[in-house]
Amino acid sequence: MSSKLIAPSVLAADFANLQRDIEMVNQSEADWFHIDIMDGVFVPNISFGMPVLQAIAKHAKKTIDVHLMIVDPDRYIKTFAELGSDVLTVHYEACTHLHRTLQAIRAEGMKAGVALNPHTNINVLEDTINDIDLVCLMSVNPGFGGQSFIENTYTKVQQLKALITRKGASTLIEIDGGVTNKNAKTLTQAGADVLVAGSYVFKSNNQPETIKGLKAIANS
Ligand code: DX5
Ligand code: ZN
Repeated sequence: MSSKLIAPSVLAADFANLQRDIEMVNQSEADWFHIDIMDGVFVPNISFGMPVLQAIAKHAKKTIDVHLMIVDPDRYIKTFAELGSDVLTVHYEACTHLHRTLQAIRAEGMKAGVALNPHTNINVLEDTINDIDLVCLMSVNPGFGGQSFIENTYTKVQQLKALITRKGASTLIEIDGGVTNKNAKTLTQAGADVLVAGSYVFKSNNQPETIKGLKAIANS
């Protein structure tokens, strides 16, 4: 089985020491950078935008996984490709023509991701799963770091894994929100491939060790 990936969420980093925190992730056992872009419309919070992503990309040496929590994401697909995004994830709830959006993301050379809010059933991906490189299951309501994990996510991972298998797709399953050493193993056993962790990593005293420990648990 391929190894499970850890994606520290830069939303929880120290923005006054961003380069230091990016270098920490570069040196650590983490696999991806998870970058949360919020517009204050799709979610009730504004994080950061293009200039900050550009600064992150200048130093990041690992896969850049961008999570767009914005309305009408089609407007910015090309821009995020130019900024260095490797994976671009849009919200199902924000896309009227999801299939077209996925094609546009892939046409720019990026992996296409779809995020589902906690209230959105995985069945809505029945007809697009073969066109999706990554499904991000939100295990908190999007908008803020540091929230508690929603337990119903375990069932959704199993349902999504079953859909991917049934359709013969090679889609990765990512979990975003409230991930810690307490839920990591259950999530990867249920079929999760990528674990996003913000507060759990950046609020810890020894961040590289926390990443290492989480990766070990995820792969145990
Ligand atoms: C929430 C974001 C998450 C967030 C996770 O809207 O999508 O990526 O940074 O933070 P934690 O791990 O603290 O829940
Ligand atoms: Zn996210």
